[in-house]
Amino acid sequence: MCGIVGIVGNEQATSILVNGLEKLEYRGYDSAGIFVADHNEDYLVKSQGRIKELAEKIGEEVHGTIGIGHTRWATHGEPSEENAHPHTSQSKRFVLVHNGVIENYDELKRKYLANDDFYGETDTEIAVHLIEYFAEQGISTKEAFRKALMEINGSYAFGLIDKNDRETIYVAKNKSPLLIGLGDGFNVVCSDAMAMLEQTNQFVEINDGEMVIVTKDRVEIEDEAGSEIQRAPYEAKIDLADMEKGTYPYYMLKEIDEQPATMRRIISEYTDETGTVVIEEPLLQSLLTSDRIYIVACGTSNNAGWASKQIIEGLANIPVEIHLSSEFGYNMPLLSEKPFFIYLTQSGETADSRQVLVKTNKLGYPSLTVTNVASSTLSREASYTMLLHAGPEIAVASTKAYTAQIAALTVLAKAVGEAKNIPAAEEFDLTKELGIAANAMDIMIAEKTMIEGIAEEYLATTRNAFYIGRSEDYYVSMEVALKLKEISYIQAEGFAAGELKHGTIALVEEGTPVIGIITEAVTAPHTRGNLREVESRGAHTLVIASEELSKKGDQIILPIVHQFLRPLVSVIPGQLIAYYATLLRGYDVDKPRNLAKSVTVE
Ligand code: F6R
Repeated sequence: MCGIVGIVGNEQATSILVNGLEKLEYRGYDSAGIFVADHNEDYLVKSQGRIKELAEKIGEEVHGTIGIGHTRWATHGEPSEENAHPHTSQSKRFVLVHNGVIENYDELKRKYLANDDFYGETDTEIAVHLIEYFAEQGISTKEAFRKALMEINGSYAFGLIDKNDRETIYVAKNKSPLLIGLGDGFNVVCSDAMAMLEQTNQFVEINDGEMVIVTKDRVEIEDEAGSEIQRAPYEAKIDLADMEKGTYPYYMLKEIDEQPATMRRIISEYTDETGTVVIEEPLLQSLLTSDRIYIVACGTSNNAGWASKQIIEGLANIPVEIHLSSEFGYNMPLLSEKPFFIYLTQSGETADSRQVLVKTNKLGYPSLTVTNVASSTLSREASYTMLLHAGPEIAVASTKAYTAQIAALTVLAKAVGEAKNIPAAEEFDLTKELGIAANAMDIMIAEKTMIEGIAEEYLATTRNAFYIGRSEDYYVSMEVALKLKEISYIQAEGFAAGELKHGTIALVEEGTPVIGIITEAVTAPHTRGNLREVESRGAHTLVIASEELSKKGDQIILPIVHQFLRPLVSVIPGQLIAYYATLLRGYDVDKPRNLAKSVTVE
């Protein structure tokens, strides 16, 4: 959700910034801009639309050794060139990029900037004017920046350049992600290490409330009181090749295809040479003493929580509640005596989830972040971390993180259940069953042509669609409906099959696609019955069924896997249906409208 980059001390500043913004485009893509300067000249180039459009606008003459850049997901002010970052102060002396939301912008404007002129509608423009307001009082840029930060309420990752000092980038962070990268004779700033991996793999984490003064050979971190902090860099272990699309037309298709390999990687990361499942001992002990697990997550990660509930309850014998982060934080339910919190978050940066973690940390409860991004904010702030090992997920619509989250929670449940001598856990051979599930995923993925045909038959022109199922099949229905709506813009709902007749069936018309997922013997006849009910009201039905429960005429047959792991396989046709429906309708699969990956505002 907005990406920022910065560089100081490198003659290739322009191309490095643009390249970095391309890598961050998943964070927002409605407008973008860069500011670059050397000792004599400076250039500000902004554009509405994608980074490609910005790059086309940047002329040969745009050069410099210092610069900042931004790709935007609009919060205040519509997507436009005026509202694109970087923003400049009243006299144009200061240039600022910002990721986050300033809550008291209106009050700051009234209190300090009543006589200023503004060209756009963003909160960021107010922040940069405020910095200049304080600088005009005769204090240093650093002090003016600090004074402005003390006045600002909200979330931010800021990158600031003072045109009077073209060798320094001032940086500050609160709630929005930000890293400093250490180059050879230069330094960089970025929202995500991926943006600058071609320049360095050495990064320094910045904590909330800290300010950093970055020059080509210095990185000075200061806390809120201005005291200097020493922090060693860490090595970002991301393979550059994993970030490339290769021969794939879209990242989403690549990421769907990577799911079986991710399952196999999770097996090897979390088992030892004897095949025993291994998780961190303190994490295991903490879970063993808990009486209830609260899974807190948003969107697809929340859906992965639902799909994992029965696995954890079945293997570890601990009750599990699933909550939406954006609801839970402000309306916390009555908690059990020994709660344990699991934050499921692909990015590790989701603001809605983080605000809950901050609260549960304050209450002293143990927590685990299950994430794909090592050193992400939620990973650093939780008591424990389990990594998904899925490789970077770049398509905005999450696919491999969903299945990796379910697999990681299966690992966790198996370890806890085994430690508690629960027969179901002892009997569950994780390596074998997850291996079988990975093979079944391969089989489904190989059915692309058939699934493309189904997408064409059912979803090429429809306005709405339903996925229905019961129990686990319902949870998967919610996820595949989310996939369909977020990228193809078909109004899709995932419904508990039995609930349709209590109201929603009124929406079924002649030709409405209703897709039933059937993987459970006890509920199969009921879901089939519900499909017949909608059929008799004109619905165009489609069945995705497990091999052992399939009937003549079912269109998609899922290979048999362990009952706990069915969601890993039953989700794949829905992911592919969403992908192909989107292609058919002519939309950008990887960058759906209005969305951004890594949602860092509440
Ligand atoms: C949908 C999707 C989102 C995310 C949600 C939470 O395809 O990706 O619904 O799952 O924004 O993000 P994370 O998992 O990064 O916390």
